[in-house]
Amino acid sequence: MAKFDNNFVDELRMRLSIVDVVGRRVPLVKKGQNYWGCCPFHNEKTPSFSVSEDKGFYHCFGCGAHGDIISFVMNTEHLEYPNAIRELADLAGMKMPEYKPKSVARQNLENSYFDICERATREYQKLLFEPVGRDALDYVRRRGFSDEMIKKYRLGYAPKNNLVASKFSDIKQNDLLTTGLVRRGDYGLYDFFRNKLMFPIFNPRGQVIAFSGRSLDGSDPKYINTTDTELFHKRQTIFGFNFARDDIYKKNRSIVVEGQIDAIQMQVHGFGETVAPLGTALTEDHIAILCKSNRNIVFCFDGDGAGQKAAVRAASIVLPFVRDNSDVRFAFVTGGKDPDEVLKTGGVGAMEKIINDAVGLVDFLWKSVNENYLVSTPGGRVQAEKFLENELKKIQDKKLQYEIEQEYKKREFQQWRSWKKTDAPKIKLPDTDTVTKNTLIYIVNKFPNLASQYADFLATLNISFDMDAPDLGWSDAAAEKFIVSLKLQRYRATLEQELRTKMQGMINGENYTNEELSDIKKKIADVNQKLEKLLYME
Ligand code: UTP
Ligand code: MN
Repeated sequence: MAKFDNNFVDELRMRLSIVDVVGRRVPLVKKGQNYWGCCPFHNEKTPSFSVSEDKGFYHCFGCGAHGDIISFVMNTEHLEYPNAIRELADLAGMKMPEYKPKSVARQNLENSYFDICERATREYQKLLFEPVGRDALDYVRRRGFSDEMIKKYRLGYAPKNNLVASKFSDIKQNDLLTTGLVRRGDYGLYDFFRNKLMFPIFNPRGQVIAFSGRSLDGSDPKYINTTDTELFHKRQTIFGFNFARDDIYKKNRSIVVEGQIDAIQMQVHGFGETVAPLGTALTEDHIAILCKSNRNIVFCFDGDGAGQKAAVRAASIVLPFVRDNSDVRFAFVTGGKDPDEVLKTGGVGAMEKIINDAVGLVDFLWKSVNENYLVSTPGGRVQAEKFLENELKKIQDKKLQYEIEQEYKKREFQQWRSWKKTDAPKIKLPDTDTVTKNTLIYIVNKFPNLASQYADFLATLNISFDMDAPDLGWSDAAAEKFIVSLKLQRYRATLEQELRTKMQGMINGENYTNEELSDIKKKIADVNQKLEKLLYME
């Protein structure tokens, strides 16, 4: 059978969740680590069909049907392999590659690529412990790396002079160039990494596919990474994942930090489920990789402005992945500039506290909206609302989206009301009677969107809405009618009051024109008309 490019199929598997794909056809319920439903391959009433997101397989304990995302589509939709791939690619929003077998040339390229990266890693590792690497070794030890850690993460030293370009002369120049380890200059090849502390970047299988080099002499940039190559895509590679994979599964969550040194220090200090994006930009692909195991992520950002920005961006990227059982949280580093520093100064306990204090996605978005927009002004509130609306649209489960929207509406109202309490002039009228009060409390809590729509008016009433009221079982329309009619009645009462005052004033010799009085009377008539229309409206 002709085959697709392995990378393409791998990426397809990486991007798609088997639970989502199967779930399009079979309703699934999570029980323990797996999802369960009624088997689509034989007739049954009680679920014996299980789907494992982590393993990427389904298995039926009733009929023995077993397979992965691709065989599921082939078998349920009766498609040949290439068509199943096509359909899945559609679903993943990926363009189909040319349908051609993996060439011998490509296979050779891959082999030589991995070989060169591996060989370079060993050379760098060796040099770190030789005199030329002395400063680098001192540095990395000062940063709290034990020899054991240096070995596990395969840290190394790239010397000032060309290493790969000169020592790897037995390898074809083009092959060296594809790894990004060397570049072509006027005088031949030269090394991309010079005088750097070297962090190999591994693929999920633990093969070295790229490097990140840290500057040792204080020169900028602090880090340089292999630029994208045929086999290394920064957007799809998450640092530390090969080590973190099992822990992400076992602990049922992942932690994302900003820097690779942070990720390493976290991993060795008991947070084995920690990873870091390469460079600061987090991508959808990174999240997709993590979400293969579970959708529980703690983002742990530095406490500076950049960290705040990165968190908002992360929230935006993670929203399409959020399900009703996801636990996405945001932690901010305090007591140090990054996790590495916190671990050094405050120890594991301090870090644990930061992670445990992480706020949930809903709270985080609420908080950041309030910090980033001038919500005390109408314009700011509109901007904030538009932002939230746009973000929440990304949630795929519409029910969940609706629930979160309602939650925000409630909060908006409460916040609005608490401002109004302090600065709004109260309508000078007798307090609302108990029935009206209870009705309003019921409406505000049952219909948050109405509450927020009429917040301005509701806030002028002397009512505390933070309590329970009996359920009246009203419709949205009935509730709105009630509020509007109350609003009109209130307005009428103020007008009548005004009229009375002025008439009294005339008796006492004050001067009002007839127009002034008839103007108020006309307003009262208008309100009466509106009220009538409203009350007899179906
Ligand atoms: P930071 O500037 O927070 O560095 O960048 P850091 O991790 O604290 O670095 P150390 O601890 O001083 O060694 C966070 C991450 O952003 C990427 C790196 O992946 C780094 O780990 N970065 C940073 C770059 O890619 N290039 C840079 O110039 C700087
Ligand atoms: Mn750091």
